[in-house]
Amino acid sequence: MPRPIQATIHTAALRHNLARARAATPDARVWAVVKANAYGHGIERVYEGLRGADGFALLDLAEAERVRALGWRGPVLLLEGVFEPRDLELCSRLGLWHVVHCDEQIDMLAAHKTQTPHRVFLKMNSGMNRLGFMPGRYRAAWTRLNALPQVDEISLMTHFSDADGPRGIAHQVQVFADTTRDLPGERSLSNSAATLRHAASAGVRADWVRPGILLYGSAPDFPEHDAAHWGLQPAMTLSSRIIGVQQLQAGDTVGYGSNFTATQPMRIGVVACGYADGYPRHASTLSAGAPVLVEGIRTRTVGRVSMDMITVDLEPVFAAGKAPGVGSAVTLWGRAADGQVLAIDEVAKAAGTIGYELMCALAQRVPAQADEG
Ligand SMILES: Cc1ncc(COP(=O)(O)O)c(C=O)c1O
Repeated sequence: MPRPIQATIHTAALRHNLARARAATPDARVWAVVKANAYGHGIERVYEGLRGADGFALLDLAEAERVRALGWRGPVLLLEGVFEPRDLELCSRLGLWHVVHCDEQIDMLAAHKTQTPHRVFLKMNSGMNRLGFMPGRYRAAWTRLNALPQVDEISLMTHFSDADGPRGIAHQVQVFADTTRDLPGERSLSNSAATLRHAASAGVRADWVRPGILLYGSAPDFPEHDAAHWGLQPAMTLSSRIIGVQQLQAGDTVGYGSNFTATQPMRIGVVACGYADGYPRHASTLSAGAPVLVEGIRTRTVGRVSMDMITVDLEPVFAAGKAPGVGSAVTLWGRAADGQVLAIDEVAKAAGTIGYELMCALAQRVPAQADEG
């Protein structure tokens, strides 16, 4: 029998979350952001649930090839554009649209031989200070691109740094709007946080939005709001089983470093899941334990997360009238069999990180499959 850990990707939840993005921005087309192997969910596994999007946005040429191999004929956008001249050949061959964020990418395009001009998204650095042309240089970049026979349509794009927080997006929207006012072309704005929190703000109208994390059912602005607040459903369940039970007495310790000591008799379950599966080791160093569901009952980890195992307090599960033991179902995040949800954001918080990181860190060794539910 294989080790009982398993990741399940919920196709219906992906569809539901995509519909939430559409409802928040009914006039915009939606890029489903599937970079980082669809935030760890697997491009092939999310395809069915997200094929209702208007396009797929990602970073990696190999991932773009995988999207095309799935039969997707619609738009595919490379969010960081190309990294070297020969990438443009693949863009021509696969009909990929690409971001242009620096002079070097324009140079590459100018030297590229192609029969089919490319659709490009010219990126402005409106305040994030990662990729993109400064507002003062943006129009010159546009003019240069516009003169190239290798370029077809030019769309305009920027990315928000604080859509999930108190600073918001108004300052960046202002810079973007002022700089692009009379430039033609479609506009692409808004990650998940901007899509959910600021879609109704004046001046944020976008032809394309680019939600990522919301599609996977995690709140972009947790803990201010949780996934339930935004009506999002978890797209990934990480589940496993109890493979051992220990009866502790007061004073007994658990695991490496003995960093948990029982204060009274208690039973703990040993779960087949550890940091080599992508479970965050900091869950045991930064907090009093991460939340976990055993037989759908909420409890917490005790002791250190080790490579292949975690240990969980079974007392709340007994107190709920269950009889947990070897083989009992454990939900590390996502949805338990009885429908109880443990948000990945809560586990991430206990580990001092964000849901994004946990999803992306799901290890190769964890068997994963998509389901319709
Ligand atoms: C340019 C760009 N657009 C959209 C997204 C999607 O962001 P989120 O997952 O927060 O919705 C990202 C992710 O980092 C990004 O880099």
